[in-house]
Amino acid sequence: MAILTKGPRGTQDIMPGDTGRWQYVEQVTRETAGLFGFREIRFPTFEHTELFNRSVGDTTDVVQKEMYTFKDKGDRSITLRPEGTAGVMRSAVEHGLLTEALPVKLSYLISCFRYEKPQAGRLREFHQFGCEMLGADSPAADAEIIAMVNEIFQRLELKEISLEINSIGCPTCRAKYHEALRAHFSARRDELCDTCRERLEKNPMRLLDCKSPICKEIAKGAPTVLDFLCEDCSSHFEELKNRLTSMGISYTVNPTIVRGLDYYTKTVFEFVSGNIGAQGTVCGGGRYDGLIEQLGGPKMTGIGFAMGLERLLLVMEHSGSPFPEETPCKLYLGSMGEAAAIKAAALVAGLRSEGFRAENDLMGRSVKAQMKYADKLSAQYSAIIGDNELSSGLVKVKNMVTGEQHEVKLSLDEDDDDSLLNFLYHTGFAELTDAIEDAGL
Ligand code: HAM
Repeated sequence: MAILTKGPRGTQDIMPGDTGRWQYVEQVTRETAGLFGFREIRFPTFEHTELFNRSVGDTTDVVQKEMYTFKDKGDRSITLRPEGTAGVMRSAVEHGLLTEALPVKLSYLISCFRYEKPQAGRLREFHQFGCEMLGADSPAADAEIIAMVNEIFQRLELKEISLEINSIGCPTCRAKYHEALRAHFSARRDELCDTCRERLEKNPMRLLDCKSPICKEIAKGAPTVLDFLCEDCSSHFEELKNRLTSMGISYTVNPTIVRGLDYYTKTVFEFVSGNIGAQGTVCGGGRYDGLIEQLGGPKMTGIGFAMGLERLLLVMEHSGSPFPEETPCKLYLGSMGEAAAIKAAALVAGLRSEGFRAENDLMGRSVKAQMKYADKLSAQYSAIIGDNELSSGLVKVKNMVTGEQHEVKLSLDEDDDDSLLNFLYHTGFAELTDAIEDAGL
């Protein structure tokens, strides 16, 4: 029954050897967002389907082909979130967040679900770190959002990633642009895929985002939206470019970026890597000035981004970004005999309360097997307690790398320089000073 022992297609188990990397990335993204004043919001994994139809847009691939939608037992149409922006907006409106001091800055770390064809960097369940800034209209807000992504990537020492920006205008400039697109695509209408033929009237910009090879080919010569920007959108884009330049953030203007979701207006951007295969967009975002109103909220602008954590980790691994080491086991405290085992367990519990990772025998192993296990754990120190140690109150602690031994008291008394606790504190301190010296600080 492979179905019981193999996860569904497009899902990924994150194993204990890898979760440290995930936690590190999550910690850096959260910390950086905090420095920029973003506060974390948590919201449901599923929403009413209508929320995504209205926001992501019912002519997008996401809504038409990729959503996990089902009827619940109360006959409601429910959808697993394919992205985070819609849920955040719904939640912000529902809980009156938009009446707080502006801009409202929200961040989230979520799993998302899209029924796509799985490949490297493309899953059916994936994870996003995202931020949304509400109520700030100016290009300064766009620049700050982009600067924040840049800062996260710098902190993660991400290389080989470039920023591409575009403006897709507002409803005013888009009317003329839509006409131009319809004229372009109508000339080869019969060759378009069925979905695009249907989209042509309703939302011709979606044809620029179609994944079918023939539609992609026809889209190549299509007019670009930058030639249709109104005065306001055009000056907004110019100011964003100036700000990015003055912040030392390099970018290229890519007029083919339209994004796959319908809510965008004006600025759109992507951070792209050429080294992780076809799915190179690590982060995507942009402005969505009409979305909140469209969802029944007040008239308020917004801008945000989301980065795919699976893709981010792929780029980090490819570009040799450093990851922190796992916290090593400081002490393996083995034992011989029942009384010693009880003493070892009590000491290990005490050491853990003091913040040391320590382990004792839970398997009833022989001393030889316990030492082998300590080796497997890569414990920094080991010691074995037996009857002699119990009666003398002394134990030999062995440095597992150098083999050096130190005799210390079998106690966790912090006022006693010779206690096991102070020995471990002292070696911890010595390692810290060595690391500081190595780093040249
Ligand atoms: P998105 O471009 O659809 O935008 O997704 C953002 C990121 O999620 C992508 O750049 C990619 O790294 C990752 N991603 C998307 N689909 C998959 C997948 N099937 N497998 C793995 N990773 C994937 C949004 O979701 C918008 N809500 C972003 C945003 C926030 N715009 C404004 N605010």
